[in-house]
Amino acid sequence: MAKIDFGGTVEDVVMRNEFPLDKARQVLSNEVVAVLGYGVQGPAQALNMRENGIQVIVGQLADTSYWEKALKDGWVPGKTLFSLEEAAKQATIIQYLVSDAGQMAVWPRLKPCLKDGDALYFSHGFSIVYKEQTGVVPPEFVDVIMVAPKGSGTSVRANFLSGSGINSSFAIFQDYTGRARERTIALGIAIGSGYLFPTTFQSEVYSDLTGERGILMGALAGVMEAQYNVLRKNGHSPSEAFNETVEELTQSLIRLVGQNGMDWMYANCSTTAQRGALDWRHKFSAAVAPVFDELYSSVVTGEETRIVLAANSAPDYLEKLTAELREMRKSEMWRAGAAVRALRPENWGK
Ligand SMILES: NC(=O)c1ccc[n+]([C@@H]2O[C@H](COP(=O)([O-])OP(=O)(O)OC[C@H]3O[C@@H](n4cnc5c(N)ncnc54)[C@H](OP(=O)(O)O)[C@@H]3O)[C@@H](O)[C@H]2O)c1
Repeated sequence: MAKIDFGGTVEDVVMRNEFPLDKARQVLSNEVVAVLGYGVQGPAQALNMRENGIQVIVGQLADTSYWEKALKDGWVPGKTLFSLEEAAKQATIIQYLVSDAGQMAVWPRLKPCLKDGDALYFSHGFSIVYKEQTGVVPPEFVDVIMVAPKGSGTSVRANFLSGSGINSSFAIFQDYTGRARERTIALGIAIGSGYLFPTTFQSEVYSDLTGERGILMGALAGVMEAQYNVLRKNGHSPSEAFNETVEELTQSLIRLVGQNGMDWMYANCSTTAQRGALDWRHKFSAAVAPVFDELYSSVVTGEETRIVLAANSAPDYLEKLTAELREMRKSEMWRAGAAVRALRPENWGK
């Protein structure tokens, strides 16, 4: 593993060049990998592995939209596409990529399909860490491993196709065969990771649940809405409020942060902007810190997973989520956003 200095703390990282694809293929040469679930992560990981020369099969409930999607992607019923249970029985590595609530529901049917020496693979620490809630307690005769891509399945696939790679964290919860580590890293490389950070199931799930509820999704939407509403309340037009809140961020400033860091973005803005942002940054940080503390503790106590399991186990969970997203899309702010996006020259006439 490479030793990398992250702002003064030295951490281990597995780079693709020190564990190349040929080595991953060799480690996985006698394995059949079953990807269970063909939602968002499932297709990305399954297709990337297939194209990387790994023996892959897919398990998915038949006669669903996800089954149709698997057919379109070239998986063949009875050969490479099966029910969840059948795929698990045929495989030596079982990638459990149904939704987290789905993992709880399917577990009583999956557990009897596991064989001595199999590896049970997750892309999130959820089911294992919150086992009191999910009931997912693997038998002692399997490896229990994780590779968690740090991005949407859509990006896992897009980055693979563009020749780059997503970064992923990896962890070993149970090493029955003595091969858990090499299996995990080989799978991480085979699904298209550019590099892999070691973690534990618990650290992964605590940080991931906090991140998505926080800055990556929940805080992002909340802070944007708050600023947009203040501008509107003070008489600014929807287009002006949207441009100053979202469009300038997504089309210009956040790209500079991604390229070269926050100070680089600041340095490329006016000195007027820099002076104000440097001052107000501290006020915002102090204002939201208690909310982040509350969020982290809600993750650790299991309250967040309790809410997820209750809501996403309901038969109509997808309709409800879709309805809430529709409500967001139909708000004035995001309707203004659609109009602003349509004005980008590359979208003219679309
Ligand atoms: N989304 C991401 O980009 C992302 C990123 C990193 C990690 N992860 C992790 O990857 C795993 C898979 O997540 P995902 O977002 O890809 O899942 P998803 O799209 O929400 O999952 C859909 C899949 O789960 C199945 N499913 C849902 N509820 C089910 C139930 N009650 N019984 C049986 N199957 C059920 C669906 O099949 P049906 O047709 O049966 O509904 C479908 O195959 C999760 O652990 C997640 O935390 C996801």
